[in-house]
Amino acid sequence: MSRLGIFVDRKTLSNSEQLNALIHCRDVAENMGHDVEFIFPVDIAKIQKMDALFIRARTDPMNITYVAARMASFHGIPVIDDPQSIQICSDKVNMYSHLIKKGVSLPRTVFLSRNDLSIEYVAHLFDEMGSPLVVKEPSTSFSLRVEKVQNVAEFFKVARRFIKMSDWIVVQQFIESKYDWRVGVLDGKLLYACKYTIPSVTFKIQASVNGHIVYCGVESVPSHDMPPRVITLGIEAANAIGRGLYGVDIKNTNGDAYVIEVNDNPSLESGEDTCYPNVYHTIVSHLMKT
Ligand SMILES: Nc1ncnc2c1ncn2[C@@H]1O[C@H](COP(=O)(O)OP(=O)(O)O)[C@@H](O)[C@H]1O
Ligand SMILES: [Mg+2]
Repeated sequence: MSRLGIFVDRKTLSNSEQLNALIHCRDVAENMGHDVEFIFPVDIAKIQKMDALFIRARTDPMNITYVAARMASFHGIPVIDDPQSIQICSDKVNMYSHLIKKGVSLPRTVFLSRNDLSIEYVAHLFDEMGSPLVVKEPSTSFSLRVEKVQNVAEFFKVARRFIKMSDWIVVQQFIESKYDWRVGVLDGKLLYACKYTIPSVTFKIQASVNGHIVYCGVESVPSHDMPPRVITLGIEAANAIGRGLYGVDIKNTNGDAYVIEVNDNPSLESGEDTCYPNVYHTIVSHLMKT
């Protein structure tokens, strides 16, 4: 019998949707004949006894989940997310550089260092890329450090804050849309697809508005109802990062499609997979195939 470890932490389990999703994942793996063990950070040494590891806690190279991924990979144990994917996806400069190298369709994107922050250069960016612009701190997640700026003064207000946290900031052409497509890809193949509807009070799929967090709506979409270009672009973007499990965010406006982000550790607990009942079966089969 093979053993599947699911790496979790207290935060993952404190969310009831996450908990249901994890129990569902366990049931699927057990019905496939595998032994399943939830592994907490204090039990990290158990990883070497597993035949595969599925990480379902927030990934970050500065976090214990990265150690878990490295440990699995060191022992030759198949792991989602693999350490390289965690490292690439946690840094937008690294992630976009992989996409640019493979010619994947993106909004126009530039990386600025502290030395590039002159009024002339920023004014030139507005001329070239239009207004508003989107500014991102490279380690952002959950839309936390992504801001829309209308002019040079607003740009500097945000950029000064972000450049204290990072050597680089990312500046992007603003792509207007009512929703983000999310294309789930595993090992270069479509796993699921859904639509994240952007709350009307913000341009991001999640934001803090007057002290309250507003979340996007989630609607699972069958593959035959997806624009084919969005699916192929999602797979292309995932393949530019690796062969693991990714959630690719795509905006599709005026017939053009642009990758906004490739996420490792994509969420699966909010109904993303409603139209795809085999998601966990496919993930477990992939992990346990060796
Ligand atoms: N270039 C862009 N144009 C329009 N909206 C954007 C752009 N980049 C990001 N967004 C919006 O902001 C959200 C957060 O941006 P993202 O790059 O995914 O950062 P994070 O890693 O913090 O989630 C996205 O889901 C998207 O809705
Ligand atoms: Mg995002």
